[in-house]
Amino acid sequence: MKIIGSVKEDLASEKRISITPETVKKFAELNFSVLLEKNYGEHLGISDEEFKNKGATLYASVKEVLEKSQIILKVNCPSNDEINSIKDSSILIGQFDTYSDREMLNKLIKKNINIFSLNLLPRITRAQSMDVLSSQANLAGYRAVIESIEEFDKAIPMMMTAAGTITPAKVFVIGAGVAGLQAIATAKRLGAVVSATDVRTIAKEQVESLGGKFLSVEGAENLETSGGYAKEAGEDFKKKQAELLKSYIKKNDIVICTALVPGKKAPRIISEEMVKSMRPGSIIYDLAVNQGGNSAFSQADKVNVVNGVKVMGAKNILNKLALTASSLYAKNLSNFLNNLYDTEKKDIYINQEDEIINKTLINKEL
Ligand code: NAI
Repeated sequence: MKIIGSVKEDLASEKRISITPETVKKFAELNFSVLLEKNYGEHLGISDEEFKNKGATLYASVKEVLEKSQIILKVNCPSNDEINSIKDSSILIGQFDTYSDREMLNKLIKKNINIFSLNLLPRITRAQSMDVLSSQANLAGYRAVIESIEEFDKAIPMMMTAAGTITPAKVFVIGAGVAGLQAIATAKRLGAVVSATDVRTIAKEQVESLGGKFLSVEGAENLETSGGYAKEAGEDFKKKQAELLKSYIKKNDIVICTALVPGKKAPRIISEEMVKSMRPGSIIYDLAVNQGGNSAFSQADKVNVVNGVKVMGAKNILNKLALTASSLYAKNLSNFLNNLYDTEKKDIYINQEDEIINKTLINKEL
């Protein structure tokens, strides 16, 4: 019987977990046993008992969990100590970054460990149930609106009261991808007047279907790749967009930034001048802060106040809803393992002909 193991992440920076009681049950159905570090989900209110009731075993020693497991599930890249304990030729699955985790990944490759990074999943229909970037960005978009409202000193919806009418807050979303669309839906549900912009013209229909107004950059070509992602905007587009936003941003109360071009530094869209032009008390939440930021003055885990405008972002916004994020992440991982499982062989089989397996596998030095 194969053992699937997982240990806690560095809780100072990552509160998500990779295995939930629900997925322990799913793994048991495939005849895998699950080994976890003691108090694995305690910080999220999930007791060891809950895991045990679904069939997991818990060990006090991280080293022992890693040494005994043939398949290890993680969120972030293992530490040096953890790498030393992982058995040669085992399987490691998580959300690893081939750029920032390169050194650690190369150490793992030297140990002949088959690494799978779900960040590399092809965006095909069959892989949707495993798509961690979407499941997590969706929650990030939702939470960015909640965090912004928390810092905002006014009410969001229109309210007609005997004392007078309160006008609804205006929320503007830059980038209508996964995070952006959820930010639009959330702001709309809370009663804001919502608008959004994107470089992909197809986004217009999606924004409008959520009840948002789409702000188009006049004369802009559709900057979409065949894979559905954005292309980097040229100088002409950037100029036109800046001109448009110069007069538009200041009319808004809350701006949520999510613009991203895969593999590139985030485009700088909101200039210092634009930030300063907003009314004091306005909010800019920059979800792209880890990729360099869409807005001037944005810094991870800081609220920078510029002329009364609060500019903020988080290194890991998912820690604010770690239980929900873990539940979806664990399901993504379980679906991925299901795909690795060969029903005829009744075992894990790394079938390189399978596009999902082939594209996510990292087994050559980077
Ligand atoms: P996505 O790729 O689905 O969406 C990005 C959108 O930005 C695309 O629709 C793209 O067309 C648009 N875009 C690109 N350049 C643009 C420009 N110059 N002007 C207007 N729109 C532009 O990405 P996703 O998954 O929605 O993620 C959005 C951001 O949120 C990323 O920066 C991601 O890293 C971040 N994120 C941050 C988290 C955190 O904890 N800080 C957690 C999850 C996501």
